[in-house]
Amino acid sequence: MPRILITRRLPGRAVEMLLNTFGQANVDLHDSDVPITRAALLSRVQGVDGLLCLLTERIDAEVLDAAGKRLRIVSTMAVGYDNIDVSAATARGVAVTNTPGVLTESTADLAFALILAAARRLGEAERFLRSGSWNTWSPTLLLGVDLSGATLGIFGMGRIGQAVARRAQGFGMRILYHNRRRLSAEQEAEFNAIYVDKETLLAESDFLSLHCPLSPETRHAFSETEFRRMKPSAVFVNTTRGPVVDEAALARALREGWIFSAGIDVFEREPEVHPELLACENAVLIPHLGSATRATRAKMAEMAAENLIALLQGGRPAHCVNPEVLV
Ligand code: DGY
Repeated sequence: MPRILITRRLPGRAVEMLLNTFGQANVDLHDSDVPITRAALLSRVQGVDGLLCLLTERIDAEVLDAAGKRLRIVSTMAVGYDNIDVSAATARGVAVTNTPGVLTESTADLAFALILAAARRLGEAERFLRSGSWNTWSPTLLLGVDLSGATLGIFGMGRIGQAVARRAQGFGMRILYHNRRRLSAEQEAEFNAIYVDKETLLAESDFLSLHCPLSPETRHAFSETEFRRMKPSAVFVNTTRGPVVDEAALARALREGWIFSAGIDVFEREPEVHPELLACENAVLIPHLGSATRATRAKMAEMAAENLIALLQGGRPAHCVNPEVLV
């Protein structure tokens, strides 16, 4: 019977599914809300056939080697898999699977929540009220910017970018996008989205929302140069991965008024947040909650379990990012 390691307590039925399939004796669960330590991961992964992990674990050659030759699958409970060295896994014949699709709408909702919160200064407004500073209605109190008629720039027009575009249509926004590959004419018509180069996206967007994966090409794709090219009235939103943005440059852009405000869900060195960003009143900062609804997190965990079970029972997992290892 295959042996598996699960690196965190999971929502939904995922653990039950794995226990029913492989039996209690073969399932090692790090039954905690606190991440497994690197040392414990390296020790407990030894001799397993399958590893179900989260985005908080770095799965590199050292972990894959510690697991040994039985390891056949690393199943992550996330759509993003930048924490996994996929080439090292492929070289060892290990499948890497992820959980796309089920979190699209929840993540797009959160991106839109940040667009609205940063546009209307909701973080500042809440702190202002709770601090007891509100003493009268004022025509100039905490003025924000409008979405209606504004231009939304989407950087990365995959599933989540498209779901954000759908929401933006309802708010009467003009939509520009930049992507590695241009969408078909039919898709552009469906989203009422205009393809532009990155320069144009920076220059023309009133709102700019990031939805690209983290890769060597997108690391620090938004840094001082980019923020200086944006409108001083622009709202910047990141719900993808922190390292796509140079956090120090973002803090400077916010502090010095190169842009109006930001809504940020992901950070360069989670759970640390750059102290200069923490000091920016015009940033709405939340702790990586893109997919954080009860239903979606349960579905993600169950999909990660299904991927793992499928492969270890000789089938094809539904979402494999290196299908060349599947025979
Ligand atoms: C992902 O799935 O990659 C998110 O960041 C976590 O929901």
